[in-house]
Amino acid sequence: MIVIGIETSCDETAIGIVKDGKEILANVVSTQIEEHKKYAGVVPEIASRLHLQKINFVYAEALKQAGISPDKIDLISVNNQPGLVGSLMVGASFAKTLSMDLNKPLLTVNHLIAHLYANFLKEEKPSFPYIGLVISGGHTLLLIARSHHDYEIVGTTLDDAVGESYDKIAKVLGLEYPGGPLIDKICREYQGDFIEFTPGLKNDKKNKYNFSYSGLKTAVFYYYKKNPNAELNKILKGFQIAAVNVLIEKTAALSDATGIKEIVIAGGVAANSYLRDLFLKKKDMKVHMPDITLCMDNGAMTACAAYYRSRSGLFDPLDFDVYSKPKGGPAAYLQEKKI
Ligand code: KG4
Ligand code: ZN
Repeated sequence: MIVIGIETSCDETAIGIVKDGKEILANVVSTQIEEHKKYAGVVPEIASRLHLQKINFVYAEALKQAGISPDKIDLISVNNQPGLVGSLMVGASFAKTLSMDLNKPLLTVNHLIAHLYANFLKEEKPSFPYIGLVISGGHTLLLIARSHHDYEIVGTTLDDAVGESYDKIAKVLGLEYPGGPLIDKICREYQGDFIEFTPGLKNDKKNKYNFSYSGLKTAVFYYYKKNPNAELNKILKGFQIAAVNVLIEKTAALSDATGIKEIVIAGGVAANSYLRDLFLKKKDMKVHMPDITLCMDNGAMTACAAYYRSRSGLFDPLDFDVYSKPKGGPAAYLQEKKI
């Protein structure tokens, strides 16, 4: 079965083609990072316009890489939530047209669930139940997945997402967008000591599995304001340690409480080398992490998620909509259960 996955939720125009849920025939990503750099963040209108300009070329390149003609595609899939509405609409319209033109079924996919499926594109696949940690520019989510259709949200961020805090700190400290990969690199190359920061909700019993990154961002910012001559490396390393350690601690606490030892990490921040090293040291858990190239937004993960969902035999009607936030709040993930 050949599935095409279309992803335009933020600043990547991406199309992947995956065979039988495991073999990546093509995975083309046209990134807009250079265009958004000068604004130190993603400008929604620019993002939508660039998707519109690029998507036909990305599709043509994906078919070329896969070495197939369009009639070989069995299923069309597209991320329709959450994300920037104008951007999602470009991918959604493209998918609807393709479905009508090729007369093939269509499945919408939740972008965050799609991220988890980057791990199903590896030789060794996660088994259920697993604890999922989705960490990206827009989300910080701790969940329990019991099947391909059953997700229970256990924790989320109460304010900023972890990737967002990397990007915002980079902005106030005068570093380039996106801050995550750059701060990761700086910290990897720096062996010295660091400024200690406390992450939000660290020992908060009422929010055992929730996260908060806004206070950490403010603390880093005020420290920098008060100590303009402080070494940047020390501040960045302190921030990264605080930001990442709390992710690991809360994932481990959920693992202890539930007895679930299978852990699946996903999203852009899953590329972070400090986080990957720490998770790999956790010998009491079986930790799955995507290949670095599949951590960031891409279409192959969407196609893979749709492959597993398509086993239910249910598809989406062509009048589906797009949503900036998961439709119905976090509970919307649970709707997957009804399939
Ligand atoms: O999943 P993604 O590509 O897009 C969203 O769905 O948001 O994630 C992008 C986010 C950005 O905030 C970026 O700074 C962060 O992932 N990121 C990283 C690293 N690589 C990307 N954060 C920390 N360390 C990294 N190596
Ligand atoms: Zn993403």
